[in-house]
Amino acid sequence: MIERQEIVSGQGLRGEIRVPGDKSISHRSIMLGSLADGTTRVEGFLAGEDNMATLQAFETMGIKICRCRDGILEIHGKGLDGLTEPEDVIDCGNSGTTMRLMTGLLAAQRFFSVLTGDRYLRRRPMKRVVEPLSGMGARIWGREQGEKAPLAIQGTHLQGTTYRSSVASAQVKSALLLAGLYAEGPTTVYEPHLSRDHSERMLSFFGAHVAPIDGGVRIEPRPHLEGREVFVPGDISSAAFFLVAALVTPSSELLIRNVGVNPTRSGIIDILQKMGGDLELTSPRTLSGEPVADILVRSSRLKGIEIGGELVPRAIDEFPVIAVAAAFAEGVTTIRDARELRVKETDRIAAMVKGLGSLGACIEALEDGMRIEGREALDGGGEVDSCGDHRIAMSLAVAALRSRSPVTICDTACTATSFPGFWQLLEQVRG
Ligand code: S3P
Repeated sequence: MIERQEIVSGQGLRGEIRVPGDKSISHRSIMLGSLADGTTRVEGFLAGEDNMATLQAFETMGIKICRCRDGILEIHGKGLDGLTEPEDVIDCGNSGTTMRLMTGLLAAQRFFSVLTGDRYLRRRPMKRVVEPLSGMGARIWGREQGEKAPLAIQGTHLQGTTYRSSVASAQVKSALLLAGLYAEGPTTVYEPHLSRDHSERMLSFFGAHVAPIDGGVRIEPRPHLEGREVFVPGDISSAAFFLVAALVTPSSELLIRNVGVNPTRSGIIDILQKMGGDLELTSPRTLSGEPVADILVRSSRLKGIEIGGELVPRAIDEFPVIAVAAAFAEGVTTIRDARELRVKETDRIAAMVKGLGSLGACIEALEDGMRIEGREALDGGGEVDSCGDHRIAMSLAVAALRSRSPVTICDTACTATSFPGFWQLLEQVRG
């Protein structure tokens, strides 16, 4: 495992690349492929650590998954009632999506299961799914009255519900929709702003009855799900590092092919364009229910902006790298309404303030975001810490591209969570 990476500023990023498959869509392809009848073929699956945790979880529940050539997966689904009791604790690793979505699904099974994760995941809040699921009749126990994993789940018969979530969270929404597949009567979820809708899209694609209803989403129980062919586009959250890297490094021109541009995920494009970034989307198309495009990006002079409201859930995983873009923009960028960043893989507000601050950026933590004053380049160098968070590691690598002194990023093995091959790809486009 590579634990440290040194980055020295250099020439522009050029060429044509692809980034690994979308993490959120990859998780859902395993889950729905397992619950469908017949074979699901997944092309472009992200074989990162998070998704492998989901894959292994379903294998331990009796699903056969063939890892065929060219990264293609074949999932031999056994229908809605085909899962079997796992003999051991399910380890979700670092993956909040695995743990929260599976809590919803397992709450409705006819068996007992236990979910755990690494030391970061065991610190993250789980009541946001445990509480509404309990309202449907679920029987779930966890540390701190159900707030923290390990979670023990005794599957049982659930009642449909109407739930108004106080956070815009796709993991909360998806946990309830998955439980709703088995419940008595429909389940409806409302959220303050629309979070990523991959679950809704893929559930419909597999044959479930999911529909928007006055600002929320409703699922009807016990659909017949049919195995499908799923094409996973490149992850816009992974592309984001290369978008910002190309924008802030002079003489860059990069074409990123085959990126998912679902409007509930494309906030990063709107934000970077608003900052004055030269980004062009070409060849728009739809693949298994998800919008996809190629993105051409050229170095640009960025300016500071204000970010908040509905844009926040549409770019929630990109704020560490948006902070990097802001560190090189003219003027001040303010990010608000992003309190959720405090409960991601790490506290991403604290981690970026510490990391970018130590490189010489003018960045300040706000209770629900960050305030960043841009400058021409960063004067600091030396060691910075990823805090064990993949997106912090990659964001600091982008910041290092415009630092006057070499930067060493410590604890970088975590990038395998979502972006195996990140360091090699960065090297490649830098010539
Ligand atoms: C995800 C939802 C988001 C996101 C995470 C993936 C998903 O989390 O941050 O990386 O696949 O549903 P929240 O639902 O907590 O916002």
